Amino acid sequence: MTRPLDGTVALVTGASSGIGAACAASLAAQGAAVAIAARRKDRLDALAADIRGEGGIALVLESDITDEQQANDAVERTVTELGRLDTLINNAGLMLLGPIVGAPLSEWQRMVELNVLGLLYCAHAATPHLLRAAEDGPRHVADMVNISSVAGRAARSFNGVYSLTKHGIGAFSESLRQELVNRYVRVSLVEPGATATELATHNRPEVLESLRGQIGQRMEATDIADAISFIVTRPRHVAVNEILIRPTEQER
Ligand SMILES: NC(=O)c1ccc[n+]([C@@H]2O[C@H](COP(=O)([O-])OP(=O)(O)OC[C@H]3O[C@@H](n4cnc5c(N)ncnc54)[C@H](OP(=O)(O)O)[C@@H]3O)[C@@H](O)[C@H]2O)c1
Repeated sequence: MTRPLDGTVALVTGASSGIGAACAASLAAQGAAVAIAARRKDRLDALAADIRGEGGIALVLESDITDEQQANDAVERTVTELGRLDTLINNAGLMLLGPIVGAPLSEWQRMVELNVLGLLYCAHAATPHLLRAAEDGPRHVADMVNISSVAGRAARSFNGVYSLTKHGIGAFSESLRQELVNRYVRVSLVEPGATATELATHNRPEVLESLRGQIGQRMEATDIADAISFIVTRPRHVAVNEILIRPTEQER
């Protein structure tokens, strides 16, 4: 039985939990060999064991992508050890909420370092390989999927800097998409609404407390993985530029 991603290689950042882990499993089930990057190696090892248990190929990359060298090494090791790079899922991200007034600057720095710079380091290192895959790969098309957020569409009170980073990802993605369309590297944006993952748990206790009453319906990480899989399994002549996906009951 042939599967849509047979013979391809995907790199997923932030694959140790949540959307990234679900996405890596989903891409592997569709035939991709997956390189899985994050800092928590024990989590990555467990995911790799699951993927291999299903007959898939997984490469564990213990990597902090806020470090330019480590981000570059993650991409280069993927190509060296798995042979190529057809699909990059720029998923790693951090959401630290709260009022702008009096916010710890360190929280803003951490979000910019990961959500913006980490993504840029990976995109920069991966693009030459994606271009090569689009030229000579099994599908003659390659994909970069950047994970933004509903917060990348509209800013709201208490998500100012997170929203800034996600708006930036949207702008970068659209610019790169236009640059690469004729070379068959598709650049896509996924903008999830509330999804049950570890994302919110990194907030300060007082922020967590203020969020407690606001938790409504949430999607599962696999729902977002489905959207990502849909994007990267389209035929060569179809580019899904953007998916905005919310829980049915989420208003904005
Ligand atoms: N959950 C939601 O409601 C939601 C909504 C909209 C958008 N998103 C976006 O979805 C993406 C995935 O988030 P999630 O919800 O799945 O949250 P999550 O479970 O907290 O996953 C975040 C991932 O990023 C990784 N990461 C953090 N710092 C890193 C670093 N310096 N280097 C490499 N990896 C790092 C984490 O792994 P380690 O800690 O092991 O490094 C983890 O695997 C994010 O971009 C987030 O903004 C989520």
